[in-house]
Amino acid sequence: MRRRHRLRHLALISAILLPWAAMTAAASLPIVIAHRGASGYLPEHTLPAKAMAHAMGADFIEQDVVLTRDGVPVVLHDIHLDATTDVATRFPDRARADGRYYAIDFSLEEIRSLRAQERLGSDGQAVYPGRFPAHTGNFRVPTLAEEIDLISGLDHSRQRRTGLYIELKGPRFHRNEGQDIALRVLEVLREKGYERRTGQVFLQCFDDATLRYLRHDLQTPLPLIQLIADPGWGEDSAVDYAFLQTAAGLDEVARYADGIGPWLEQIYLGRDASGEPLLSDLVALAHARGLQVHPYTFRSDALPEGIESFTALLDLFLNQVGVDGLFTDFPDLAREFLQDRRQYRTQQ
Ligand code: G3P
Ligand code: CA
Repeated sequence: MRRRHRLRHLALISAILLPWAAMTAAASLPIVIAHRGASGYLPEHTLPAKAMAHAMGADFIEQDVVLTRDGVPVVLHDIHLDATTDVATRFPDRARADGRYYAIDFSLEEIRSLRAQERLGSDGQAVYPGRFPAHTGNFRVPTLAEEIDLISGLDHSRQRRTGLYIELKGPRFHRNEGQDIALRVLEVLREKGYERRTGQVFLQCFDDATLRYLRHDLQTPLPLIQLIADPGWGEDSAVDYAFLQTAAGLDEVARYADGIGPWLEQIYLGRDASGEPLLSDLVALAHARGLQVHPYTFRSDALPEGIESFTALLDLFLNQVGVDGLFTDFPDLAREFLQDRRQYRTQQ
């Protein structure tokens, strides 16, 4: 009798706890961050690319931000305009001595008049030839405020809650130009009512000093992500990226940030002699310090060496390494992969 009672009790607990466990597993699934929007399909950082990412079910949509001459945050990956707009034909005499066209030398009105396009390399050819045709379409460079309006409007009409994942580009460059990009971005977030939405906004930067400034001086409550670059890329930061990947470096990061955004090849290091993936201990070190890990950039048309398919890449990072989210140009594929995993878990 007592045993039967105990079994009934256990069955009752299971009936209560199992759905809860399934829900918790689903709720803690890694986040899909649409890198520059659905940029595998439409020119990066254009509003159509952001609308498409929203429709594809991205959890967060990324905004890289730089300032115009009049101090307005616009959504643009580079501090230059030449790789992703027609600035060179529209304003041929406005390049600096290095031949580059800097967004900060142009007013918002001028930048609004440019056509945004698929990214071109220094040879004038499309960086990703299989993507949206270069020099085609009638796209514009949006302001951060316009993009937030689009995302929050779609959230309203589609009954969703999509996050912003904002990167402050070239903070030291902007400071040298007399502009405070961190302050300007927080002003826009305040104006749009997002400045305290801690579950819906991440701020990311390669520059540790800017993240400390955001946390300690500007006192934002928003979660901060320390991006980790390859030193050869020349990102606008004096931080030592090799140190950031050590236990001592991550101890430091945990004082001002909530997570890290490493390059995926700082986690996947290639294959060993027997063909097994070689993995760094970066994720374990970060998790041990309570830091989230959101690596970049997952592209089905630019796989790392030794990875045979996009599914294999997602499987490695999501099922084997266990990252907390990832930046991808193909949010539909990551969403689909995770959806399959969610259904699998729910059936367990
Ligand atoms: O912000 C994460 C990732 O986007 C960093 O690389 O150069 O694409 O901004 P990038
Ligand atoms: Ca970025």
